[in-house]
Amino acid sequence: MKTNLKKENPIGIFDSGIGGLTVAHAIKNHLPNEQLIYFGDTAHLPYGDKEPYSIKHYSVEIAKFLLERKCKLIVIACHTASSIAYKEVKRIVGEQAIVINVVDPVVKLMAKIEKSKAVGVIGTKGTIKSDVYRKKIGEENNQLLVKSLATPLLCPMIEEGFINDKISQTVIDSYLSDEKLSEIEHIILACTHYPLIKKQISSYYKDQVNVIDSAEVVALHVAQLLKEKGLLSEAKLLPHHFYVSDYTKSFEKSTRFFFKEKIKLEKGSIWS
Ligand code: DGL
Repeated sequence: MKTNLKKENPIGIFDSGIGGLTVAHAIKNHLPNEQLIYFGDTAHLPYGDKEPYSIKHYSVEIAKFLLERKCKLIVIACHTASSIAYKEVKRIVGEQAIVINVVDPVVKLMAKIEKSKAVGVIGTKGTIKSDVYRKKIGEENNQLLVKSLATPLLCPMIEEGFINDKISQTVIDSYLSDEKLSEIEHIILACTHYPLIKKQISSYYKDQVNVIDSAEVVALHVAQLLKEKGLLSEAKLLPHHFYVSDYTKSFEKSTRFFFKEKIKLEKGSIWS
């Protein structure tokens, strides 16, 4: 059986677009010695409104692309793909690499919370419709009531640069004041883009609600997992690669916003 499970091999990260760079950035911060291979499926963006069948198909093809590049660990950074395509990706990867999604590490964290009443979840229509957080948190901690709301306007808003201003605050306030999210004590940011508006969400709640940045939780989980498995890279050897399925200058310009530094995008040919 072919295996990519070697310390020196890279970590593969994929998303529907460049939003998953928030997850890549958090992983890079915690694990500076690791080589990252990122794939953003900009040709099929957004996943949030797509049929589960399409999301599964795209995710499996991307996983194959990352396996060919010898990734020891594949992180499904997209919440929509994590909610819908995790099983299919795991099946195709088999024993060749480790696969993680961005839902389970957050669920694990919520399982530890005691004496809490309700947790809110915000994400794309696909993530919320899958009901994955309610199902998985329910299996771990049935004391916790999960209240979820699809917030589809947030991604395009953030992509267009509307953050830390009046327009974005109005949109955020309007979503968070929805009855469906009443009386929550925690809120899970179940979308790649939302770490960028974490401050505004915290300020809406006047810091009285625990805002869970899943990118950070996932990065800590990746570090712990690689350590446990003896798969941490010992020295930074090779440069990161950032692939997209559809290249435009505007995507490249926006990467700095999500990754906090300038990066060069390469065209990754899966569908062309
Ligand atoms: N990356 C997606 C997620 O985290 C958001 C953007 C999209 O809809 O594709 O769910």
